[in-house]
Amino acid sequence: MTLSAALDAFFGGLAGRLRQAAPADARSAAALADFAERVAALPGSAAAALEPQAPLPVCRHWPAALAGLDAGWARPLASLAPALRWTRNPNYRRAPPDPDFLANYGYAVIAGPADGPAAPIRCETLALGILLLGPGTHYPLHSHPAVELYVTLSGDGDWWRDDGPWQAVPPDRVIHHESLAPHATRAGASPLLAAYVWQGDLGRHARLVEGN
Ligand SMILES: [Fe+2]
Repeated sequence: MTLSAALDAFFGGLAGRLRQAAPADARSAAALADFAERVAALPGSAAAALEPQAPLPVCRHWPAALAGLDAGWARPLASLAPALRWTRNPNYRRAPPDPDFLANYGYAVIAGPADGPAAPIRCETLALGILLLGPGTHYPLHSHPAVELYVTLSGDGDWWRDDGPWQAVPPDRVIHHESLAPHATRAGASPLLAAYVWQGDLGRHARLVEGN
């Protein structure tokens, strides 16, 4: 699969999940529909070549993460792998929530603004990528101004929003975080892989907040 085809398959898969999701309310329905149209419009053929990168420690979990995915996700993501540039939130690099966190957390931006981390597709109104957590990793409560949708790709993670509690969320479910809503994620026995899409304030990174 070419990079362009893999990007189009990934964007199309995400848009399809967003269109099929059962929204909690009218506000969430409008957000999902708007995100879906924007994701579907991203042009996979516009991918730029990026500088090579040494892998982050979390990338050691990539093969197991891919092996745990449905083929509909695994195939485009395997083809995308050489174009992924892994990064970590500078707020967490400065003050990790626990000593093992930085070795077991990372994300790769697939589409995002020019002043953000390296990404194959440039988009000034949307930031979209994948989050990878090592087995058992707890990404504690945090928030950010951007409105966020997650699409779960792998299967055994737990998710927390607002006042909780933890909820096990199977693959291919959509999770909607309003601006500044506190949320957290916990990987199960396998690596956790999820796609995220941001709209709104793309320049302000997430910050940890008190809580779980
Ligand atoms: Fe988030």
